[in-house]
Order: sequence, then structure tokens, then C-alpha cells
Amino acid sequence: MSGNSLLAAPLAGRKSLHDLRRQLAGPLVENVASGTTAVSAAVLHENADFYRDAARYADEQRTFFRQMPVVACLSSELPEPGSFKTFDEAGLPIVLSRGKDGQVRAFLNICPHRASRIVREEQGKASRFTCRFHGWTFDCTGKALGIPGADLFGDPEEIDPYRNLIACPVEERHGLVFVLADPEGTMDLDAHLAGLEHDIEFIGLASAEIVHADRLSVDANWKYGLDTFFETYHLNALHFETFKGLFSPICVFDTFGPHHRYTFAPLGIEGWVGMAPEEWPVDAIPLQYFLFPNTIISVGSTSSTGLTVNIHRIFPSSAGHFTSSLSFCAIGGLASPEHREEVERAYAVARAALVDEDYSVAAEAHAGLASLPEGTRLPVGRQEIGVWNFHHNVARLLGTGEGSDG
Ligand code: FES
Ligand SMILES: [Fe+2]
Repeated sequence: MSGNSLLAAPLAGRKSLHDLRRQLAGPLVENVASGTTAVSAAVLHENADFYRDAARYADEQRTFFRQMPVVACLSSELPEPGSFKTFDEAGLPIVLSRGKDGQVRAFLNICPHRASRIVREEQGKASRFTCRFHGWTFDCTGKALGIPGADLFGDPEEIDPYRNLIACPVEERHGLVFVLADPEGTMDLDAHLAGLEHDIEFIGLASAEIVHADRLSVDANWKYGLDTFFETYHLNALHFETFKGLFSPICVFDTFGPHHRYTFAPLGIEGWVGMAPEEWPVDAIPLQYFLFPNTIISVGSTSSTGLTVNIHRIFPSSAGHFTSSLSFCAIGGLASPEHREEVERAYAVARAALVDEDYSVAAEAHAGLASLPEGTRLPVGRQEIGVWNFHHNVARLLGTGEGSDG
């Protein structure tokens, strides 16, 4: 892949977001100087079925959302012992709870007695959960505290296997809570993060205060929704007005397992070409991370500092519908009225771009895709490198071997 970054420096050398941006600035300025950008190895001729096939969707839902760790929430959404939050978007009702010991646990939000939903509020604080159907009560570790009429369930050992909540693997890392929506599964987060954990740590999400949270409902395929984040080719057409003055389509692209990092060129970067590298204002470089299968973390793409971070998570509910969950965060909390203004502005710009532009295109394209004849293929250009990379990973991990180059 010409024009891409070939970072050789050891991760231990990157002490902070600033240092990381300084390392990435070199390859970025080289691309600017040579008038090139990150491009994929080949043109992708994607089958229209990639976005519309229901059987494929069922495979994706199981493989990516039930068998891979997904970000259920930010640590700051479970701020203290007793905080809880429900999470249904991975396709299984789950409740997350922070215990007295500070540890986050995840349970199926399904009563072990007769499957009623136990926690019905979206979030809150509680030291115990009581099922409204017959009143079974559980503590924050999932242990049954009380079973009314327990003696009529037979010998105590007969009810023993059924008395406690069913746990799912969960791990809190770098300010994010990762869940595996499979009680039988095991989660190896280090293997999953594939080296991206260093960057995520640098972002500082552990101190993130969510200033705006929102959910958008979109009639399109979840992968089409994500694809709109994965290329800068549409920046000067679709977002000509909205993102004008934020960054240019020139970029550097790096991969970490199925995840990737986009390094964007701030506007005016042409001026850096003749400057000494020490003079480059590297903190203006926007970074965008994709955490497979569905999470985008944007640092500085809608604001000029690294203190406003946008998190987008896309959860499918069918081949033709997804929910996009937005969290606009102030790192370290809202420090000043100016910082609040910056987050407000970032939120307004990004929400408008998503609703009126990216997701509006995605929904129209989904209607178009439904009408195309079987076997139709769509060309993804080499400058749409994130789309190429994502589609190849989807095919690789599903074992479908699709994604036709050339
Ligand atoms: S279903 Fe929950 S107590 Fe009966
Ligand atoms: Fe976009």
C-alpha cells in the first residue's frame, strides 16, 4: 500500500497522544509533500448482497456481535458502586453492574426462574435487583438473596443450579467496558485489541464525561453506515459545507488486527512542508480509530483539541436497519465554558453531518441496493482504503472469502 505509514518505532516509545501525533506527522507530511494519500492494494468490486442478504446478516450478528467483545458502555456510565446499565444492542439482554468492590460485572437480564426481564430501567443505582414476576432478588454479584417459597422448589440442591444470575465475560479497560454477549464464551481482550490498546489508553477515556448521548435509527445496512466513516473520498462532495475548515482528504492508514487508525491531515498542512518538524503543530492532527466490529473513536476530528472525543457505535437489528449510538465526551470532564462550547459545536456539526448527510445517503443507497439485480457489483476505489480493509476483514472473519479485488 503506497502512501501508508510504516511505523517502526516501538509502542513503548509513544508516551502520550502528543508523542503519537508527532510520530504520525512525518508520514502524513510526506503524503502531503508528494501529493499522495493512503490507498488500498486494489480496487474492490463488492457484491451488492454484501449489504442486503439476510442469511449473511444472521452470520455477522452471531460472529461479530455475540462471539467478539463489543464496547457496552464507557466506564463513566457506571460511575460508582451500585451503578447499573442495561445493554441489549449486542442481541442479548444484558445488565452491567458495578459492585461494592468496584468491579464491573455483566449478567443476562433474564430471570433464572422463568425468564422475565429483571432490570427494566435503562440505568440507575441499586444494591439489589428484584424480578417483578415472583420476587426473586439478586445482589450486584448476581447471587440470589431471596427466593419466596423456596421450600416448594424441592430439595435445595434441585434449585441450586438455577438460583443465580447468569454471567457474561466482561472487562473494563482504558475507560471502556467490553462485554462478550455469550455466557459460554471466553474473552481474550489482549488478543482482540491486537496492539491498539496503547493508543486507546493515550486518549484518556477513563476520565471522559459524556456531555451528549444520542441514538439514531437508520434504515440501512450496518456495514454501509460504518463505511461512511472509512473513506475521506466523500469529504469534499457530501460534507463540503459541514466539515469545511476541519481537515483535508489526505490521510495515513494503519491497521491493528481487524481494527484500524486513520490519521487525517488538518487544513493548512501544506504549510508544514517547509517547516522544521519540531515546529509542526501536531496536536491539530485528527485521529479516528475503528474498533472492530462496530466502534469509532474520533479524536479531534470535529474540534481542534484532543479533549473532545466522539464515540459512535453501530448496532444492527436486521440486514436493513441499524441503531447508531453517539457519545460526545469531554476528556477530564468539562474544564471551562470554552470547553463546553467546543463539545457543543462538535456535537452539532457531527450530528448534522450524520443525520442530513452520511446516514441519509446510507438509507437512500439501501433502497437503491434492494432494487439492483442479483450479481451486481459496486466498485470501491483505492482511495476508499478503510472500506477495502473493513470488507476484507468481514469476509476473512466470516470465512466467506469474498471481497473481489482487481
Ligand atoms: S420469573 Fe423472575 S421471579 Fe419468576
Ligand atoms: Fe461522512
